[in-house]
Amino acid sequence: MILNMAPFSSKSTLTTSDHLTRKLSNYVTRLHISRFSKTCGTSHVKYVINLAKSSVLLLLLNHLSVKICLSRLFNPMPSPILSVAPMIQWTDVHWRYMFRGISAKTTVYTEMTMSSALVHHAEELHKFLGKAVEHPCSPCVVQLGGMDPAELGEAAYLCESYSAFEAINLNCGCPSGKAKKFGFGAEMMLNPDLTRRCVYEMKRRVSSSDVTVKCRLGIYEEEFVDGANTDYNHLVKFIGAVAEAGCSSMIVHARDCVLRGLSPAQNRSVPPLRPDVVHALAADFPEMNFHLNGGIRSFEDIDRHLSRSDGEGPIYPLAGVMVGRKAYDDPFMFSTADSRYYDHPDSSATRAGLLERYFDYVEDYVDGINYFNLSKLIQPCRNFFSGKVCYGDRENKLYKQKLDSLIKEHAKHAKCKGNGDEEGAIVREIVLEAIRDTIPDSFLHETI
Ligand SMILES: Cc1cc2nc3c(=O)[nH]c(=O)nc-3n(C[C@H](O)[C@H](O)[C@H](O)COP(=O)(O)O)c2cc1C
Repeated sequence: MILNMAPFSSKSTLTTSDHLTRKLSNYVTRLHISRFSKTCGTSHVKYVINLAKSSVLLLLLNHLSVKICLSRLFNPMPSPILSVAPMIQWTDVHWRYMFRGISAKTTVYTEMTMSSALVHHAEELHKFLGKAVEHPCSPCVVQLGGMDPAELGEAAYLCESYSAFEAINLNCGCPSGKAKKFGFGAEMMLNPDLTRRCVYEMKRRVSSSDVTVKCRLGIYEEEFVDGANTDYNHLVKFIGAVAEAGCSSMIVHARDCVLRGLSPAQNRSVPPLRPDVVHALAADFPEMNFHLNGGIRSFEDIDRHLSRSDGEGPIYPLAGVMVGRKAYDDPFMFSTADSRYYDHPDSSATRAGLLERYFDYVEDYVDGINYFNLSKLIQPCRNFFSGKVCYGDRENKLYKQKLDSLIKEHAKHAKCKGNGDEEGAIVREIVLEAIRDTIPDSFLHETI
């Protein structure tokens, strides 16, 4: 019996016609992705034909699903997308510039910027979004925080006018006290209708940018209880509202958010990860692109979620994977991402070359700016020697210690007001001095 052959179980209750049409559409989607695993053989084709035969009458009854199936048949799936998560204070404009030297193709996200900040400082967008013309950082997605549809729409319009971002993303997952107090971030998940209006307004105000949403699996206002289950029905309602506004790409941090009793940092580790829920969403909303976030630490992890099996059984493949802390701690993990995921040559840079590129950027960036933070400018060089490709853990530790002590020595410059040229040169001096005593020259000149 054909239905029994299907490997996926959808968690939502569907009618028979929905079920069959979704199954066909899901299977076609998987065929697109199977170019990855190069396993597209005749048995797949037979399977689709059989399924199509049984579904054909029911398909006619369900016009929406028919459209989905046809679009899946004739429009290729977008390439799997690898991205670095938005991380406040970490993936700032300087870090993003440094990272672009390591991978040309991996999408980077800006830190969350409040829509109110952009709207009230529309003349100074470079302070939030970097000097887009001088230092392009594409592909980049700008993330907005907010809960006012008109203001979010205006902020989206400003972002699109300022620079060519790949997309404008709405944060619906921030667990901070401020987000709870003002009703943005994860709080938005409690109000699918408001989120729908926000996304709708953002989309209405931009002409070419995609509008996407980053959310959690769910949000709990009470204290964390181990073993509590994600409210899948509410999640489906939330995604449905977002989809209704015209959003077709979601990034899901695959854990619940607990508003009481857990700090933002605990909210990134205590609630258990449930990637299976994101795969279920992808199966239940085949017309949307789902990107998984949370706990990804290697290419093997990434491949598992982009493929059709997680090693234990079949899973519904996703459109992309987003990496957060691991990308920050070990950015050089991405030095081979371009060839692996984008069929694009990897960077042939050395660490010495990347540092020079970054120092030039800093000198250019600070030119004409009279207020900036020295340790923030040095921060992107901090994890230059971490990770498995590092020369050695000991050297990495010594380098970081030396960097910290040199920054402390220059504490009087930490919040600089003054001549940009001078401060730009200090960044170079400090980093090179920390390297001089700790990292072997030969390692600096190896291709990354
Ligand atoms: C320092 C820090 C700042 C973060 N800031 C944001 C943010 O601005 N917007 C957002 O959507 N998520 C933010 N996050 C959450 C990450 O984007 C990501 O969802 C989370 O770290 C889980 O992914 P990971 O396990 O790969 O790190 C932040 C995380 C960290 C560690």
